[in-house]
Amino acid sequence: MKSSFYITTAIDYTNGSPHVGHAYEKVLADVINRYRKLRGDESYFLTGVDQHGQKVQQTAEKEGIHPGTYVRKTTKRFTNAWEKLELQYDGWAETTDERHKKCVADILQKLYDEGQIYKKQYKGFYSIKQEQFLTDKERGEDGEFGSEWGQVEERDEENYYFKLSDHVAWLRDYVEKSDHFIIPAFRKTDVINAIERAEDSDLCISRPKERLRWGIEMPFDPDFVTFVWFDALINYISFAGYNAAPDAGFPEFEKLWPANIHIIGKDILVPSHSIYWPCMLHAIGFTDEQMPSLLVHGFWNLKNGKVSKSEMTPEQAAMLDPVNLVEKFGADCVRYYLVRDIHTGRDSDFDPERLVMLFNTELANNLGNLCNRGLSMTKRFLGGATGQSDYDDELSQELRAESATTIATYKDAMDRYCVSEALEAVIKYITLCNQYTDKQAPWSLAKDETKMAELTTVLGHLTEVVAIVSVLLKPIIPSACERIQAQLKANFLADVKIDDLKWGMIPVGQEVAKPKPVFPRISLEEEA
Ligand code: ME8
Ligand code: MG
Repeated sequence: MKSSFYITTAIDYTNGSPHVGHAYEKVLADVINRYRKLRGDESYFLTGVDQHGQKVQQTAEKEGIHPGTYVRKTTKRFTNAWEKLELQYDGWAETTDERHKKCVADILQKLYDEGQIYKKQYKGFYSIKQEQFLTDKERGEDGEFGSEWGQVEERDEENYYFKLSDHVAWLRDYVEKSDHFIIPAFRKTDVINAIERAEDSDLCISRPKERLRWGIEMPFDPDFVTFVWFDALINYISFAGYNAAPDAGFPEFEKLWPANIHIIGKDILVPSHSIYWPCMLHAIGFTDEQMPSLLVHGFWNLKNGKVSKSEMTPEQAAMLDPVNLVEKFGADCVRYYLVRDIHTGRDSDFDPERLVMLFNTELANNLGNLCNRGLSMTKRFLGGATGQSDYDDELSQELRAESATTIATYKDAMDRYCVSEALEAVIKYITLCNQYTDKQAPWSLAKDETKMAELTTVLGHLTEVVAIVSVLLKPIIPSACERIQAQLKANFLADVKIDDLKWGMIPVGQEVAKPKPVFPRISLEEEA
């Protein structure tokens, strides 16, 4: 059955350049989006950039330029990287977009009119790095604010507050009973603990203009701008057409919204996505059925530290620049590594040696070899076209049966967003097919005229497996799979939906093209 699916990612801060952590999240979303389309779903993928806030204002000031000029420049680095990684997103969110600003202002006005926003004087400690006020709950055991908060200063000012506390009882209840709000489920404990801490505090959602100008002005008080998180979270609905004018150029909100996942990293689960966001949605009238799911992924780390931190050496930063990586290794290789060497939800160490090793063993050697053998022997021994014969044997039966098992395992894993698990199943199947080839030894069968039937069956099986895996791997390595399908001269495979994918895709008499290596082996040294 055709269903609709709406996938979003966190929008990346534009106070710098994209790194592999950003790239992983976007590739994961792209893979899921392409997979949903392979399932026949109507799938929509939104990603974008978070352009407001103090950090952006500070960096722009340092560079001596207007924040608007600065974010236009940095935003290009993101769109450029995403193009290089062959991301196919359907919508692009930029928080300086006037349509988004209007949506945020309308929501603020509505909440203000309903008495869900109020003004108060507050004296307390403020973390510049995290752009938020801190309470005693944020103090460590030694009574100090930990290094995660960066520079902390005391502030005494008036601000607007959102009555978060009105929604906390509902949220606790909802989180406890929902089995799909937080994926994977092991992250739920962090959220429940955080809800306990949030219980009696409201959320400061404004910043006085004398401190921060670079934000969305509060519609009911021009002396204040909106707290960057309150602004940024709303992108998930504003760019999906929530409350938009019919000619605003957005999709139809009702079609997208109920079926959706937000893909985010573990660092922004608490408090923004699992507390502020559901409470904001609840406050503007969303029901339990309309709450999004949060797919929480782990972190790419450097062996001795963090990917996203400024303490990186220039060499490390260059190595983790997705554009450099694609220029060195190609989009397919980088995409493959990013979703292959991490289990969705867990952390992994970014390691160029493993990137090269996994590409060479699983793609260049395993899959590359299968494609090359299947196609070149069909050319050499069968005159280039697949044939038909009555010959069958146990090994061939096993290979056919395994195709169905592989497709089912792949589908089950992808439905759970476990891309690496899905890839393992496909790689295992390719290995089986290479073993099948070694056992059948078609190069020997070709020397014996009486073995024509055997040869025809064996080579037909190889082409068939190449066709099947080219469909399964396409969401992950789209360009390579297009090239494989072009060599099979089977462009119809591009339109096959997963439930129609079964043994017998390649018709008898299918003429194949001369094989060209799709995955030339790579090495670190050569490229250094
Ligand atoms: O948090 N590995 O932006 P951001 C994996 N603008 N993922 C990582 C990562 C790493 N090393 N480092 C960061 C923001 N990420 C806000 C989001 S959403 C309404 C606003 C992930 O540029 C991070 O977890 O700091 C987040 O999901 C995304 O990259 C953007 O991070
Ligand atoms: Mg961050």
